[in-house]
Amino acid sequence: MKILVTGGCGYIGSHTVIELLENNYEVIIIDNFSNSKRDVLDKIKIITNKNFIFYEGDVCDNSILEKIFSENFIDGVIHFAGFKAVGESVEKPLMYYRNNLDATLSLLETMNKFNCKKIVFSSSATVYGDAKEAKFVETIKKGTPSNPYGKTKTVIEDILEDLYTSDPTWSITMLRYFNPVGSHASGLIGDDPSGIPNNLMPYILRVAVGELECLTIFGNDYDTPDGTCIRDYIHVVDLAKGHIKALDQLFNLESGIKIYNLGSGKGVSVTEIVTTFERVNNLKLNYRYGERRSGDLPNICADPSLALKELNWKTEKTLEDMCKDAYNFIQMQKNSIKGD
Ligand code: WQD
Repeated sequence: MKILVTGGCGYIGSHTVIELLENNYEVIIIDNFSNSKRDVLDKIKIITNKNFIFYEGDVCDNSILEKIFSENFIDGVIHFAGFKAVGESVEKPLMYYRNNLDATLSLLETMNKFNCKKIVFSSSATVYGDAKEAKFVETIKKGTPSNPYGKTKTVIEDILEDLYTSDPTWSITMLRYFNPVGSHASGLIGDDPSGIPNNLMPYILRVAVGELECLTIFGNDYDTPDGTCIRDYIHVVDLAKGHIKALDQLFNLESGIKIYNLGSGKGVSVTEIVTTFERVNNLKLNYRYGERRSGDLPNICADPSLALKELNWKTEKTLEDMCKDAYNFIQMQKNSIKGD
């Protein structure tokens, strides 16, 4: 089976490409390196010792997509390509709507033209918005995301629903990620955002290696056991494996449209992440408690039971694995920069 992976050099995309190759899928990647590095291609090759095809380009560009589909017989697509920084999306909403929606529309139009109608879409728990549930189930009514990034995910889910309604020969699976953290055990690839990280774990890593002075924990006055926000953290390798399970289902079932939460189902507070990171990596982090971050919800946690029931998928890695693998990655990064 030949799979096109859009954004395949990104954090989750690259980990998924590795799982695809290790499961004997043939892989084609398209990436424009807007939020990834070219050397990830070499690292995928080192890790898997497998070949794959790469096209440098923007998924918004129909011509490159038509080139890819005319030069390769593609059985299915996993669509990761898109901007994903919540804070940046608030500052630059037009850039987010233009990029994330155009990329998806160009991709779906091209897939339709070449009669390739199997897609796994990288969605997000942000589509639940401010829903008040203790654990999010796929069937609850989506809330309103607090930022344009989350709203693009909601709109793309709606586009896919409408596409399926218009043409039920499509096979569409939407995967709603909770909080992906960690890295491949090799330490060669990981979450490496440019600039000052918005997300918790990449920020912790920069403090751990002395690149940033101090972590601010945004609020410890929430209505949670230790006062800090609770999230459902999932190891990126578990997340990648969930895509393989979703693809396997896509090729084994008749057409249809499905949505799955990919989370552990276990809520962990910010303070728990910090103390676990310190313990497993045997270090002290410099952190302080500060004001709440606007838009944060006290508790976001998955009910992942549908993915277990229908995909036979559940997380296997622990919070300790996430903290250890994440730190291993940043240390490998530092050493390679120093030329060790
Ligand atoms: C986690 C917790 C912060 C940084 C985001 C996106 C979501 C998804 C995952 C793509 C929160 C706290 C953070 C810091 C802190 N991405 N925090 N100090 O906001 O749950 O979800 O990433 O789909 O779309 O919204 O993740 O890592 O930013 O925050 O205290 O310096 O860590 O307040 O409680 P979040 P996060």
